[in-house]
Amino acid sequence: MKKYDFPKGFLWGGATAANQIEGGYKEGNKGLNIADVLPGGKERYNILMKPGFDFEIHEDQFYYPNHEAIDFYHRYEEDIALFAEMGFKAFRMSIAWTRIFPNGDETEPNEDGLAFYDRVFDELQKYGIEPVVTISHYEMPLHLVKEYGGWRNRKVVSFFERYAKAILSRYKNKVKYWMTFNEINSGLVMPINGLGFSYQSEEDKYQPTFQAYHHQLVASAIAVKACHELIPESKIGCMILFAPVYSYDSNPENVMYAMQEEQLFNYFCGDVQVRGEYPAFMNRYFKEHNISLDIQEGDLDLLKDGTVDYIGFSYYMSRTEKKVKSDADSSEGNIIGGVRNPFLETSDWGWEIDPEGLRISLNKLYDRYQKPLFVVENGLGAYDKEEEDGSIHDEYRIDYLRGHIKAMGEALEDGVGLMGYTSWGCIDMVSMSTGEFSKRYGYIYVDKHDDGSGTLKRKKKKSFHWYKDVIESNGEIL
Ligand code: BG6
Repeated sequence: MKKYDFPKGFLWGGATAANQIEGGYKEGNKGLNIADVLPGGKERYNILMKPGFDFEIHEDQFYYPNHEAIDFYHRYEEDIALFAEMGFKAFRMSIAWTRIFPNGDETEPNEDGLAFYDRVFDELQKYGIEPVVTISHYEMPLHLVKEYGGWRNRKVVSFFERYAKAILSRYKNKVKYWMTFNEINSGLVMPINGLGFSYQSEEDKYQPTFQAYHHQLVASAIAVKACHELIPESKIGCMILFAPVYSYDSNPENVMYAMQEEQLFNYFCGDVQVRGEYPAFMNRYFKEHNISLDIQEGDLDLLKDGTVDYIGFSYYMSRTEKKVKSDADSSEGNIIGGVRNPFLETSDWGWEIDPEGLRISLNKLYDRYQKPLFVVENGLGAYDKEEEDGSIHDEYRIDYLRGHIKAMGEALEDGVGLMGYTSWGCIDMVSMSTGEFSKRYGYIYVDKHDDGSGTLKRKKKKSFHWYKDVIESNGEIL
């Protein structure tokens, strides 16, 4: 098999988010956040995709899987020891805003929450694993959603600033790699977890969405600036959900449509965070959708001063677009939409599998920005089967990951600058979009099920041993 030349010091590892692994949702004075009110199962998907969510807990009707998640809050030592056994160089995790500021608008941080992450970072350091920390991963304090209307409200920028500065100063000697908002562009399709509000109806979405975006982009720039000042040797990135958009065919109308969708979804936020200004194509979009942004004095300077050092992005699938779609074109399951691509297979959840699309994405992003790239999420959500002897032979996951690592190897040969790869869900956890435990991504199996049953016991899958070899050989053994 062809051998790839991954750079020395390449950050191999795995990725998680606080709300999907920690549990302990009321421990250590933690406040409630958005993920705590999202039920498991199909209901969650409907909530994320449709207007009119009430942000309340209805325990009589639903199960809330994030409340206990996989109990990383109490089991982090065991989990980190397993990551170390695989040879992780980096572990991507997020800090739950509500552990530090339980309601979001307090003036002083919560010491219990700060101390928890101290313990986690110390544990990682023990094994020489670099933490890569997302400041906000779909975990906005619920109080800010209910009392302030989420990111629509300018006041949230200062609350976020206080939170970001509290963690940057506390962990300045422990964390070198940071990212501001997880999949910042996802708010365009899932405003609830990204922007902290639900539309009342499809019609009224444009103005509030882009005003909320403006606030979030300013907040991101403030955090980047603060990070550079407080931790001069650090690197702080943006984090974009990147799904390259293909035109369905060579009809120029479809090509243009695919290009516009790519600009809006894949590039708008990144352009602001990397280049420090709104891209020209947004002017026309704002005009055509009657969007008029309230930009305060100093905001545009802040955007200029707070540009990121690297581009973190998630890659799961590509998207194929056609200007006029018929019902038969539907790509149901491909979470970011588009039409069915006849050349691609899909996962158990209907997400289109496209390793070549990762090489395409890396080339597109590097051509556009010429800044280091970091694949901070990629992986296969699949049903796993325990054999009679308890073993799990997840060859399908190994195939998926191998294909995507090869694509990174090819992109490196294309000349792309790539600093690391933290595959998603290095340990099984709650799925973001469906709240299921059965949608498993991990190298480590967790005995926890969709109805909440299970012992939470951890065990190694076949992919655990495979990934260990990949890391040990710096990507030579695939
Ligand atoms: C990304 C998110 O969109 O995809 C993660 O950043 C999420 O939080 C991951 O878990 C996989 O999605 P899902 O819905 O399969 O968990």
